[in-house]
Amino acid sequence: MANLLVTGGAGFIGANFVHYWREHHPNDGMVVLDALTYAGNRTSLAGLESLRFVHGDIRATEIVSSLIRDHDIDTIVHFAAESHVDRSIDGPDAFIDTNITGTHSLLKAAKSEWLDRGSGRPHRFHHISTDEVYGSLGPDDPPFSELTPYAPNSPYSASKAGSDHLVRAYHHTFGLQTTTTNCSNNYGPYQFPEKLIPLFLINCLTGKPLPIYGDGMNVRDWLYVKDHCRGIELVLDRGQVGQTYNIGGGEELPNLTVIDVICAAVDERFNADPALAARFPDAPAAKGQASSSLKTFVTDRLGHDRRYAIDERKIQEELGYRPARDFKSGLAATVDWYLAHENWWRAVMDGSYRVWLERNYGSRATVG
Ligand code: NAD
Ligand code: TYD
Repeated sequence: MANLLVTGGAGFIGANFVHYWREHHPNDGMVVLDALTYAGNRTSLAGLESLRFVHGDIRATEIVSSLIRDHDIDTIVHFAAESHVDRSIDGPDAFIDTNITGTHSLLKAAKSEWLDRGSGRPHRFHHISTDEVYGSLGPDDPPFSELTPYAPNSPYSASKAGSDHLVRAYHHTFGLQTTTTNCSNNYGPYQFPEKLIPLFLINCLTGKPLPIYGDGMNVRDWLYVKDHCRGIELVLDRGQVGQTYNIGGGEELPNLTVIDVICAAVDERFNADPALAARFPDAPAAKGQASSSLKTFVTDRLGHDRRYAIDERKIQEELGYRPARDFKSGLAATVDWYLAHENWWRAVMDGSYRVWLERNYGSRATVG
């Protein structure tokens, strides 16, 4: 039996992980530490009564130390971060504060409780990172492996690279028992509607433009979030301490293809269920039009990485990881989840977020 401290457990991937872990490890203790920024939602953890939720900041080293002590924590799973590239372009400071200083603060607390005070008791510090630390690939470049040199291009990916290096250093220098996973683009339930898939899905439902950056031919590897949770579980269970593992979905797709799949899925749902037209009267699909009519090409993101792709042979060969969902079925499950959880996404899209959306996307639409 383990006692987990999950940071950022009210965010997208963290909340999915907490649900996954509760289902698969019902006897483990779990404490969630989350600052509830715009991206964190307590309601994403509804129904998990046996969970201890602490509203707090990872940068509060003393609070983290006392949580480790008071709850006999032996495993930290670190999701908390500022995670959206566009926000890191608008305002990088929060990314440095949370992703670099915050991760360092957690590492200090873990070292102090597990090594300095705890005389090396068994423990694990697992850090969640991103494939974006490896930079951008050309069309014929081999996918990112764990040996690909770091070349982060955005303030977001640079801050994640900094945090990865700190985790590595705390293992190498102090002997902290760490593992790191670098995953590709996640999608699925509970994702805040600022990332491509939930934003475009909700815009199809509410009749808003789909703002496609540049030529729409940037390529990402898409990973269904529950497959990612399974990958983290394998690394926690059998991953080698001090190692990093890439986790991907095996689905390298240009944005325009992803967008077409979203539009087609929405159109199909409206065709199959006439009640949707009454629920979402502003959707083109409610008026017999194609959702793709909302596609709008806008000014490209600054420094926009062209292609990400994952070589996941290491986690496959060492730990037997295989993603269970292909993109089509994962996307279908995601569309169904958002249709069934309208209250969730309407609640998280509060006033301040709307203002931000208008400011960023309203002004970027250049082609109707
Ligand atoms: P998210 O933005 O949805 O959630 C982040 C969570 O962290 C929120 O609940 C927020 O309240 C919390 N948080 C932020 N600052 C905090 C602080 N100072 N103290 C405590 N909590 C704080 O992010 P996500 O998409 O769930 O990503 C989780 C992790 O996975 C991040 O580390 C991110 O870099 C990484 N990642 C995400 C993706 C993706 O596709 N979403 C891909 C690769 C890697
Ligand atoms: P995003 O979901 O922000 O993830 P990331 O930047 O971490 O890959 O974006 C995924 C891709 O979709 C990326 O190439 C940028 C593009 N994109 C758009 O074209 N329009 C949008 O409104 C958003 C949010 C993203």
